[in-house]
Amino acid sequence: MLIKAALEAEIAPGGMKAVTLNGREIVLCNYEGTFYAVERACGHSGARLERGALTGWVLTCPLHYAQFDIRTGEALSGPAPKAPASRHADPADPALKTRGLAAWPVRAEGGAVYVDLP
Ligand code: FES
Repeated sequence: MLIKAALEAEIAPGGMKAVTLNGREIVLCNYEGTFYAVERACGHSGARLERGALTGWVLTCPLHYAQFDIRTGEALSGPAPKAPASRHADPADPALKTRGLAAWPVRAEGGAVYVDLP
């Protein structure tokens, strides 16, 4: 079901906007004029991702810098480990586990952004 989420003009290229649709918290992202929708809560520890940085299609969490692909929600990297453990970080450390984000199809039409939610 397509749900109107925002106006295109509200989200500049490289920008993000948090919205709540049908009880789901979502971040809308504008990557070079194409819009994407991913889960708002970081897959590491739930930080609000619209407060992070969007560089191309990579969304970086503001809290511990895990990174996600906004096109798919895939977790590209986990949180940055605290120093001095960073020199000997164990990828199996549960504190570094990061799940991917839910992602939904988006359509921009008539100046509005619609998210396709099941
Ligand atoms: S809450 Fe996002 S990296 Fe920790």
